[in-house]
Amino acid sequence: MFPVLFLLTFIRFFPLPSSAADAQSWRSRSIYQVMTDRFALQDVSDGTAYNVPCNTSALQYCGGAWRGIVDHLDYIQGMGFDAIWISPPFANVEGQTPMGEAYHGYWPQDLTALNSHFGTNKDLKNLSDSLHARGMYLMLDIVVNHMVSHHLFNTTAVQLAMSNSTTPVRNTTSVYPFTDVSDFHPVCWITDYSNQTEVEQCWLGNENMPWADVDTENTDVIGTLNNWIAGVIGDFGVDGLRLSTVKYVSRNFWNTFTTQAGIFTLGEVYSVDVNYTSPYTSESRAFDCVMSAVLDYPTWFELVPAFASPEGDFNALKNIVRLSQDAYTTGTFMTGSFLDNHDQPRFGSVTSDPALLANAIVWPFIHDGIPILYYGQEQGFSGGIIPNNHEALWHTRYNREHPLYMMVTALNQARKAAITSETYFLTTPMQFLDTGSSSTLVVSKPPLLALLTNIGSQQTSTVRWNVTHPVFKGRQQLVDVLTCRRFLAGEDGSVSIQSDGGMPKVLMPVTSLRGTNLCPQSVDVGSGSTRFGNAVSWTAVLVSMVVLEMTNLA
Ligand SMILES: *[C@@H]1O[C@H](CO)[C@@H](O)[C@H](O)[C@H]1NC(C)=O
Ligand SMILES: *[C@@H]1O[C@H](CO)[C@@H](O)[C@H](O)[C@H]1NC(C)=O
Ligand SMILES: *[C@@H]1O[C@H](CO)[C@@H](O)[C@H](O)[C@H]1NC(C)=O
Ligand SMILES: *[C@@H]1O[C@H](CO)[C@@H](O)[C@H](O)[C@H]1NC(C)=O
Ligand SMILES: *[C@@H]1O[C@H](CO)[C@@H](O)[C@H](O)[C@H]1NC(C)=O
Ligand SMILES: *[C@@H]1O[C@H](CO)[C@@H](O)[C@H](O)[C@H]1NC(C)=O
Ligand SMILES: *[C@@H]1O[C@H](CO)[C@@H](O)[C@H](O)[C@H]1NC(C)=O
Ligand SMILES: *[C@@H]1O[C@H](CO)[C@@H](O)[C@H](O)[C@H]1NC(C)=O
Repeated sequence: MFPVLFLLTFIRFFPLPSSAADAQSWRSRSIYQVMTDRFALQDVSDGTAYNVPCNTSALQYCGGAWRGIVDHLDYIQGMGFDAIWISPPFANVEGQTPMGEAYHGYWPQDLTALNSHFGTNKDLKNLSDSLHARGMYLMLDIVVNHMVSHHLFNTTAVQLAMSNSTTPVRNTTSVYPFTDVSDFHPVCWITDYSNQTEVEQCWLGNENMPWADVDTENTDVIGTLNNWIAGVIGDFGVDGLRLSTVKYVSRNFWNTFTTQAGIFTLGEVYSVDVNYTSPYTSESRAFDCVMSAVLDYPTWFELVPAFASPEGDFNALKNIVRLSQDAYTTGTFMTGSFLDNHDQPRFGSVTSDPALLANAIVWPFIHDGIPILYYGQEQGFSGGIIPNNHEALWHTRYNREHPLYMMVTALNQARKAAITSETYFLTTPMQFLDTGSSSTLVVSKPPLLALLTNIGSQQTSTVRWNVTHPVFKGRQQLVDVLTCRRFLAGEDGSVSIQSDGGMPKVLMPVTSLRGTNLCPQSVDVGSGSTRFGNAVSWTAVLVSMVVLEMTNLA
């Protein structure tokens, strides 16, 4: 509970689109991003299969499948996730291409068939049913911007078509359901990213590896794709869509497509600029919205450098968050908040400092948006640019004792406890509180208070979060959910806590944890706004292990 005046300044009411029921049911969830080919092998009945090699540099399928995901849902749900996002499931171009095999799923050739490397229709349906039986959601990643097929890898033909302003796509049945040349834009390469017409109508790829750009202004194409997505959602019991390459497709196309889909849609609009990303979620068009939400890329661009080193700039991060909260019609509540994904170097490749990593991992869970964790972060993966960030998870043997697995579990539990204990949590925008130090960042999202720092683990000086703003009730009992250590708020509800080795803290009132499994053993003693030295719990030990273990990984 918080002082009433404090609440009034924090709660804002946003109008929600009328398709809100679907988006609303995603709002409280957290998503685990699975790269299907790299997450789990099918039918692993003995431990030796955990040694099946996967050479990321070889750009080949490694054998992950939907049945493997079903077998490891305990692992995902055990971390507190209640939704998964899986790789695009449709049949891709087969065999070797100039850029390797299509193990990631982003080079569709046939939207009417599933990718047989990942399993059968029955397997995908079984994954969907298994998720629903656990109360979890399925999000499919889909690509409608382009199609890829071997017959396109004919440089001579592509060059001819370019000089001719036509498309090298033949009137062929090699690409389904688009069998007609008129289903594609004439070939041209995107060179000017500030020209939206060019971005939408020209092609991605190059002469050796062209991605045939689907003509999403063509009425027949629009009709085909709208019917297709409705069928897919019905056939496989899909709860949400992650829309790939959104900015390369006409905005008007998304309007009717997302309306037809009728479920939560989360778009990938790759941009640093919220003025560019936000119109994709506006209500200004004929339909309720272009799409329910977008991935929070503008913030990600500031998030990584802010925590990458002690020189990181928290002001830039604060600014982009404030801009974003104002830019989107529903604030940043529906955005997909992430630190890592399959397209970007993992944060663990940007810095090997375990304290910086721990601070950055906290971010998506104390953000307004929907937290998304890219598989393998919970095992300390540190692959850099593609394809190094596509590691096989089975080599970790799905270790649930990994300190980062436990940390993510605590963060999910804390967010759920916050949602359960305070109805306003999901509608209260995150706020930054003054701390008096440029190397600390305090995020208030009642009942959570996140104390973050980018000082790192190597610094000889220590940092103190000195939060004079009355966040809590006077002498309220608090617990840091990452260590289960207890603290007391000051007489005036303020907090003054020193960092241990540059590690973050996520505080919440002990009363908010009632009825949860979080920190059952935290000790209830002492007074004053200092740490209780003898109340170190098992989680505290684990967090100190993070430092040791991550140093080894570096
Ligand atoms: C992995 O694949 C790359 C590229 O094909 C190759 O050069 C390398 O030798 C392979 N590594 C192993 C351990 O097989
Ligand atoms: C999924 O398939 C397995 C193996 O065939 C079966 O035992 C299980 O009941 C199925 N799960 C659901 C939810 O249909
Ligand atoms: C490539 O395209 C050119 C021009 O259309 C054609 O003459 C040639 O036969 C094609 N090559 C292959 C291998 O299909
Ligand atoms: C232009 O493209 C069309 C359709 O692919 C083709 O029939 C025609 O031969 C091409 N013209 C030239 C000059 O290449
Ligand atoms: C493509 O082939 C189909 C089936 O043969 C035919 O009906 C259609 O007219 C052809 N389209 C073009 C543009 O040639
Ligand atoms: C933008 O791109 C389109 C398509 O390539 C082109 O026709 C148009 O002239 C370009 N506009 C500007 C301002 O460059
Ligand atoms: C975005 O739009 C706002 C309001 O029009 C403006 O103040 C701001 O400078 C713009 N930001 C960028 C990066 O263009
Ligand atoms: C915390 O901030 C207050 C107000 O600026 C100041 O009086 C106090 O000395 C600070 N405490 C610490 C431990 O830095």
